[in-house]
Amino acid sequence: MIVPVILAGGSGTRLWPLSRGLFPKQLINLIDAKSMLQNTLLRPLGIPDIAPPVVICNEDHRFMAAEQMRRINCTGTILLEPVGRNTAPAIAAAALQVVLENPRATLLILPADHDIKDLAAFNGAVAAGEAHAAAGYLVTFGIVPTGPETGYGYIKKGDSVTLNPGEDATGCAIERFVEKPDLETAKEYVASDEYLWNSGMFMFRADKVLEALTLHVPDMVTACRDALEKGEEDLDFFRLDSKSFARSPSDSIDYAVMEKTEDGVVIPLDAGWNDVGSWDALWHTGEKDKDHNVLKGDVLVSDVKNCYLNAESRLIAAVGLENHVVVETKDAVLVAPRNRVQEVKRLVEALKKKD
Ligand code: GDD
Ligand code: MG
Repeated sequence: MIVPVILAGGSGTRLWPLSRGLFPKQLINLIDAKSMLQNTLLRPLGIPDIAPPVVICNEDHRFMAAEQMRRINCTGTILLEPVGRNTAPAIAAAALQVVLENPRATLLILPADHDIKDLAAFNGAVAAGEAHAAAGYLVTFGIVPTGPETGYGYIKKGDSVTLNPGEDATGCAIERFVEKPDLETAKEYVASDEYLWNSGMFMFRADKVLEALTLHVPDMVTACRDALEKGEEDLDFFRLDSKSFARSPSDSIDYAVMEKTEDGVVIPLDAGWNDVGSWDALWHTGEKDKDHNVLKGDVLVSDVKNCYLNAESRLIAAVGLENHVVVETKDAVLVAPRNRVQEVKRLVEALKKKD
C-alpha cells in the first residue's frame, strides 16, 4: 500500500504579495482553478494501491487545508505542526503515524509546491520507485538540470540498480547527494552531465525511513514519537504535542538523511516537473502567448515580451516591458526583473521587521 504524505508547511515568501503568512502559496490557485495543495492531492489518484493521504501542515492553516480537501472529496489524515521544524520531522511524524496502522506501508512524499505536466510519466516513475522502496531503498526522483540552480539538491548517479536478475534497471544508486551547493559547484555539476536535480519527492517504506532517521538524527525521532503519543485528536485533525515537537532538531530530509544514507536510489523523472518557488518559475511553467508572456487577470499589454503579469483586483496596463514580473493585489504591487525575483524573500523579511 502506498500512502501519499503531502508536505504543506512551507511559507512561500518568494511568492509575495499573493502568498502571505496566513495564506501561503500551497493554498492559493497559482496555476489553474485549483490550489497547489489540491493539485498535489489529486496527482497520485491514478496509482494502483493508493491509500488516503496524510497531509502535514502548520496548525494556523488547518481550516483552509481541510476545506480544500473537502471540496475535492479527499478524505485523509491532517497532522498539525504547532511550529515548523522543516521537512525531516514532518516526515518522521507522518511515518510514525502510518506504521502504527500499517508497518509495511510505502510513503510517497509529495511537496505541495510542485507542478507536474505529464501524469503518465509521473505514474511510471512512481511504479519504478515503489519496486525499489519495497526492496528497502530510499528513493528519490531525479530531474535533468536545465541550469546551475543553487536552490536544489544535486545527485550524482552511481551504478544501475537491478532488483531481479534479467530485469532492466529503472534506477541508479546515489553516489553522492549534495543539498544546495554554491553557484560555482552547481555550474561544475551541470557541466559534468553526471548530476540530476533532486525533485524533493521521495518514496520509502515507513519503517526504512524511520530506521535511517533513528541512525542519523535519533533525537528527532524521539521528539516526534513523543509528539505523536502526547498529541490529540481535535475535530478532523491530529494535533502534535507542541512541547515535544518543539524539542525536535530542525532539519530537512535532504541534509538529515539523503546526504548521508548509503541506501539511496534515484529514479529519473521526465514529466514536465517544476518547483513553483518563485514568480520566474510561474513564468516558466505557465501558458504563454505569442510574445512569451504569461498573463493572468485583467491585463492590457502593448509591445510586452517574456513577462509574467498577474492582476488580482485591478487592471494592469503595460507598455514596452521585457523580462519583468508584475503582481498586483488589493494592498500591494510587486514589480521586478524576472532574473531578480529571488530577492523578494529579502523584501518580505524587511517588511516583517517594519510591522
Ligand atoms: N509540513 C511541513 N513542515 N512542510 C514543510 C516544512 C515544515 O516545516 N518546511 C517545508 N515544507 C514543505 C514545503 O511546503 C514544500 O512543499 C516542501 O516541504 C519542500 O520544502 P522547501 O522549503 O520548498 O524545500 P526546497 O524547495 O528549498 O528544497 C527541496 O526541494 C527541492 C526541489 O524542489 C529539497 O528537497 C531539494 O533537494 C530539492 O531539489
Ligand atoms: Mg520547494
